[in-house]
Amino acid sequence: MYLRAELEANVQSWTQKNFPSLGIGPWIRPCADPRHGHFQTHFPLLAAKQTGGNAREIATRLAEECSPPPGWEKPQIAGGGFVNYRATPNAVARGIENLRKDKAFGIVPNERPETIVVDFSSPNIAKAMHVGHIRSTLLGDTLARLLRRCGNQVIRINHLGDWGTQFGKLLLAYRAAGRPELSNSNAIQQLEEFYKLGHQESESDPAKMELARAELAALQSGDPERKKDWEVFCERSAEHFREIYRRLNVTFDLEKGESTYHEELPGVVEDLLRLKIAEISQGAVVVRNPSISEEPFLIRKSDGAFLYGTTDLAALRSRIRDLHAHRIIYVTDGRQQLHFRWLFDTAHKWNQQGVFEHVWFGTILGSDRKPLKSRDGTPIKLVDLLDEAKDRAKKILLEKRPDLTGQSLEDKAELLGIASLKYADQMPGRNLDYVFTWEKLLAFDGNTAPYILNAYVRTRSILRKAGIETPPYHPIVLKEPAEEELSRHLMQYGDIVALAAQDRRPHHLCGYLFETAGMFHRFFEACPVLQAPTPDLRNSRLTLAGLTGDILRDGLGILGIPTLEEM
Ligand code: ARG
Repeated sequence: MYLRAELEANVQSWTQKNFPSLGIGPWIRPCADPRHGHFQTHFPLLAAKQTGGNAREIATRLAEECSPPPGWEKPQIAGGGFVNYRATPNAVARGIENLRKDKAFGIVPNERPETIVVDFSSPNIAKAMHVGHIRSTLLGDTLARLLRRCGNQVIRINHLGDWGTQFGKLLLAYRAAGRPELSNSNAIQQLEEFYKLGHQESESDPAKMELARAELAALQSGDPERKKDWEVFCERSAEHFREIYRRLNVTFDLEKGESTYHEELPGVVEDLLRLKIAEISQGAVVVRNPSISEEPFLIRKSDGAFLYGTTDLAALRSRIRDLHAHRIIYVTDGRQQLHFRWLFDTAHKWNQQGVFEHVWFGTILGSDRKPLKSRDGTPIKLVDLLDEAKDRAKKILLEKRPDLTGQSLEDKAELLGIASLKYADQMPGRNLDYVFTWEKLLAFDGNTAPYILNAYVRTRSILRKAGIETPPYHPIVLKEPAEEELSRHLMQYGDIVALAAQDRRPHHLCGYLFETAGMFHRFFEACPVLQAPTPDLRNSRLTLAGLTGDILRDGLGILGIPTLEEM
């Protein structure tokens, strides 16, 4: 419990005693302007509004009756309904000493942990992963880590699109070509081409369309030869996905494709009909709810085919029934918002007991402010994006470190390139569309991964120069404002992680790490470490540098970004 939390506990016990009906807060926030104090509460304003009392009187009572933790200054009333608090350098120093011993760096586990499914990435078979998949993959990966760090049990699921209508067209063209062996290096490209061909043919020729439908029906009813082809498609696509996940260092607890549920689909539809949640309409089965949209939610077409939504209903039920999930979080782009409203509404009517969330994100734009495309107008492939990130990082590294060669150059370039991409993608608020620019995301002097990694590297190099790996637990002495400011900031880490987890918004953590790096640079300018005026101060500053490094590494780790010991 560091600074804010200590103060919060005191204030809460006072508000609980005097205003129990107002709940438990939290009431204490960092002050926007440190000249007024370090922390502030607007509790008196709130209490006055709710109870009809006088805000200034409540503030006076709060300031007088509730003392802050030992070593804090006397609280100050401000603006008629606020109380400001300030910790003395001594109290800040004691806080840092405690934080230094805390392996979780101030992250406090949830009081009521849940089992949470995070459904993310989920690309479609027989298609290369493209730029649209990067946000789901990174956001889902980070959310899973955030929620786990906050004490929940998290199940990461890759809900692969391996059972859609695309397989009819793909099978048609693939089988017409004589079911060729797929090459080792670009199977996924070949599959895309077969699909494109099958699509063109069946769109322009109704007879071919019939054949594609028949292919799909044969596959779905278990024809052994089609099943074999389909398995090849899945396996070869999985190889492609695995390579990308390896480079991004993303893992799943379960890879469960849509096909897993296919035998359950007729039962799901029957169930919904029987419970009168769904109805038959012109031969199709639909769920209606005009408050969502005029168009109903289609769960079985008139030709008997099931849909994306039917599979999602079966998957949702299985996650609750078999995995005992309390909560399911779906990470996809914003265009699927309507789909998930339908899914959740239908699931609730169906009495599926759980909390369902759609965590959606905006689009990555090119410099023309249109969705990012490659030169030929097709979506950029994720592999190409990763390769380019690495190449560009290599050029920048070589400018700074012409001595780097061979494997160590390759490894550093891969790490820095992918780190930059990951950070740039998570730094903007997730509901925003953002403009992608290579120059910006790789810059060493901006809100970027290289900038933050550079601060980390600096903390490591100071320790190395001092001849220590991990600084021992030295007493903290705070002399300069820059070191006090940095210390107070480090104690906010736990709150920020909790906020990012609760809001499902990693950008809070990005902003915090960026500030941490900046404060560390200011500290480094203002406070000599190795040449500190006294041994106590030197030890204290080494401890602070070490702790800053630890927190930067921990935070970047949550974002899926590894650190390096030197640039
Ligand atoms: N395969 C889908 C796509 O690429 C995403 C699936 C998201 N998850 C889900 N349970 N619907 O758009």
